[in-house]
Amino acid sequence: MDGTTPRHVAIIMDGNGRWAKARGLPRVEGHKAGAETVRRAMRAAKKFGVRYLTLYAFSVENWSRPPAEVRALMRLLRFTLRRTEKEFHENKVRLRVMGRRSDLPASLDKVLSDMEAATARYDEGQLILCLSYGGRTEIAAAARSLAEDAAAGRLDPATVDEAALASRLYLPDVPDPDLIVRTSGEERLSNFLLWQAAYAEFHFTPVAWPDFGEADFKAALDAYAKRQRRFGGL
Ligand code: FPP
Repeated sequence: MDGTTPRHVAIIMDGNGRWAKARGLPRVEGHKAGAETVRRAMRAAKKFGVRYLTLYAFSVENWSRPPAEVRALMRLLRFTLRRTEKEFHENKVRLRVMGRRSDLPASLDKVLSDMEAATARYDEGQLILCLSYGGRTEIAAAARSLAEDAAAGRLDPATVDEAALASRLYLPDVPDPDLIVRTSGEERLSNFLLWQAAYAEFHFTPVAWPDFGEADFKAALDAYAKRQRRFGGL
């Protein structure tokens, strides 16, 4: 890794549904193809030296999709994790989850917990899955946790600053994303990593997530390498 490779890439995996529709297939087929792309993206991250890869797999808003699609996605997540487990071990990659964990079906939660525990000591890279994730939900939970401590007299409200709030987010030890990629042509954040995205670079591509390959990953990294990040300074 050199100075121009982002340490942390976060991806809004969009376009599975449109990809399927364009082929006359049910939406779930788009998600299945998208799950294969997840495995491809993990390999690309390793190849290009990206240490943290965060994937927006299911948002708090996604619960309002038709129940059959939600069920299919939950099953697919469980199935894909099991099928990919070997690669986590081979590559010494740690699996982490961020989101409102208690919303998830017990069967998925169990697979996630087992894999998190089994990979907890790996330090070659991290794959972070955002599940039942919402940026506003995350910030509200952090604020609530500070408020509870203040109300109980454990925390002086005058000490609440950016670092104090950041320390109550889901994964406070993970560095902020350097690069946020969104596939399939939309150019918005959709409640993803609202706090952590403060200084991120953005890369939008028209490619639908199921078609997003190693070359597209490389193109995003190349675009990032050309940017000059100033973090508000000169
Ligand atoms: C967005 O496409 C994608 C999702 C809401 C789900 C992402 C899930 C996967 C890629 C499957 C499995 C994931 C892992 C981590 C194994 P969309 O359905 O919103 O597409 P559309 O905007 O074209 O309708």
